[in-house]
Amino acid sequence: MKKTKLFKRFLKYYRPHKKLMFIDFSSAFMVATLSTLMPYGIKMILDNYLPNRDLKMIGIAIGAIFIMCILYGLFMYVNTRWGHVLGVRMEADMRADMFAHLQKLSFKYFDRNKTGHIMSRISNDLTSIAEAAHHAPEDLLMSVLTLSGAFTFMFIMNPLFATICLVPMPLIVIWGMIFQGRMIRGFRQVRKKVADINSRVENSIQGIREVKSFTNEKHEIRIFGEVNRRFVQAREDVYAAMAGFHSGIHVLIYGYSLMIIGVGALLIYYDRAVMAEVITFYVYSHFITRPIFQLCGFIEQFQQGVSAFERFGEIMEEQPEIKDPPKPQNPPVIKGAIKISNLWFRYSDDEQGEWILRDINLDIRAGQKIALVGESGAGKSTLAAMIPRFYEAVRGSICIDGINIMAMTQRFIRTNIGIVQQQPFLFDSTIRDNISFGKPDATEDEIIRAAIDANIYDFIKTLPDGMDSEVGERGVKLSGGQKQRISIARVFLKNPPILVFDEATSSLDNESEELIRDAMERLCSGRTTIIIAHRLSTVRDTDYTYVMRGGEIVEQGVHQELLALKGYYSHLYSLNTL
Ligand SMILES: Nc1ncnc2c1ncn2[C@@H]1O[C@H](COP(=O)(O)OP(=O)(O)O)[C@@H](O)[C@H]1O
Ligand SMILES: [Mg+2]
Repeated sequence: MKKTKLFKRFLKYYRPHKKLMFIDFSSAFMVATLSTLMPYGIKMILDNYLPNRDLKMIGIAIGAIFIMCILYGLFMYVNTRWGHVLGVRMEADMRADMFAHLQKLSFKYFDRNKTGHIMSRISNDLTSIAEAAHHAPEDLLMSVLTLSGAFTFMFIMNPLFATICLVPMPLIVIWGMIFQGRMIRGFRQVRKKVADINSRVENSIQGIREVKSFTNEKHEIRIFGEVNRRFVQAREDVYAAMAGFHSGIHVLIYGYSLMIIGVGALLIYYDRAVMAEVITFYVYSHFITRPIFQLCGFIEQFQQGVSAFERFGEIMEEQPEIKDPPKPQNPPVIKGAIKISNLWFRYSDDEQGEWILRDINLDIRAGQKIALVGESGAGKSTLAAMIPRFYEAVRGSICIDGINIMAMTQRFIRTNIGIVQQQPFLFDSTIRDNISFGKPDATEDEIIRAAIDANIYDFIKTLPDGMDSEVGERGVKLSGGQKQRISIARVFLKNPPILVFDEATSSLDNESEELIRDAMERLCSGRTTIIIAHRLSTVRDTDYTYVMRGGEIVEQGVHQELLALKGYYSHLYSLNTL
């Protein structure tokens, strides 16, 4: 992305927080101003009021410096507190934008990108941006102002002495840059290692059933030990940098003060300076070391912020591959006739990529119940995912009620199609929340009705917490059949004219299958239904069957006709896979 565009996008995040920005930067300005004025006040006392023996002015000046000192503390407080608040609010805005943007992206994006990486961008990366967003301008402002102010006063007082004071600057700057850089990079490493630990734990806990059934606990512990060791290493590196930085700072600060006294003494000896100047310079030395280190850290922090913001920009620039037409033609109602004509599809964007669906033709009347059968990998789920436009055809078309789905909005198509998957996904929440996901504003009565229709209500009633029972992560507290019936209840609530059952009963035992088939029957009535299945029992009473093999429809007809063909269908039938 172009730098100017990136910069503009970044500035946009300051806009809603103008007031905070003003508070932050003006307090930084005040801190810098006070840092330069306070030592100058001391000079006034020593140089003017003391020689004149003006006790009243000495008292006033000391009082004024004391007030400045209190103000310095106050502005420092405001700056530290509200600067960070500014950063964290900007971070929250960016995070909200990023989350909303992620919700818009198409399946293909999530096929390509790992959850862990997306997570680390939305958490770690945004934190470094937020830090840079307020620290970088604050530090730059404060340090440049303090340093230029201090040295201006110093040069006005005694140019020779001020020039000598500049000499050790490069040494301090180099020291600061080396260790500050190391520290900031180190902290970044630590954050990465923490992300590794989290993703390792997540993976292992999610797969705990697999781990235990393969008795691979030792293996998991070993892998975790390695990740954990790398985290310790990263921390140790940071501590080394921190120790180097802090011990160095102190030596340099004391050394610098000592140098000022030493050089000052020599200058007084040779009549090139007076005592008041030496003392004032000494006080200045305390105020200028902090901005120097700030300036050193600035470069590294700024770079990290920029690169994190670039990664943020990359995601925000990512366009959903599936876009709504500029002038959508959503019909008022959908009856549910589906016509698929000469449809070709492949997952890869590569021209040479293998076709997953080849020249598919399908004609389903509204309210018809059809079956889609074929071996695993034939492309059945892919074909089903194309009707709600989760993926787009490379060639050919899909029409619903005679209108090409490309002319409708995704939202409209998807509200009209209900999908029941082989492995339904339940959210980590209550049964009620999981059912009402089908219609977030559903009333309690509607939810109960849906649960009854889906043959799950009797089971819910046996639970102590009923509808409020937690289902656990991905629904682990429920059996496969119970999860499936909850996902069917969702679709009852959604009440779409078109249904897709993708192997909805394939992984269930006979009893659950019976309950689900009964619920499915009820759901299907009056709707266009596509049943993808292995078992003949589910398929036999459909109106029509399409047989898929290697991405093509190889046979079609009703059960008896297909058997009579003595082709692929009857072969699958004889293998008992149908
Ligand atoms: N998200 C995906 N990205 C790339 N290839 C995929 C994806 N999903 C499925 N495939 C491939 O597409 C082919 C058809 O898969 P699928 O439609 O799931 O078959 P079926 O449902 O008939 O078992 C398989 O070869 C599979 O490897
Ligand atoms: Mg499938």
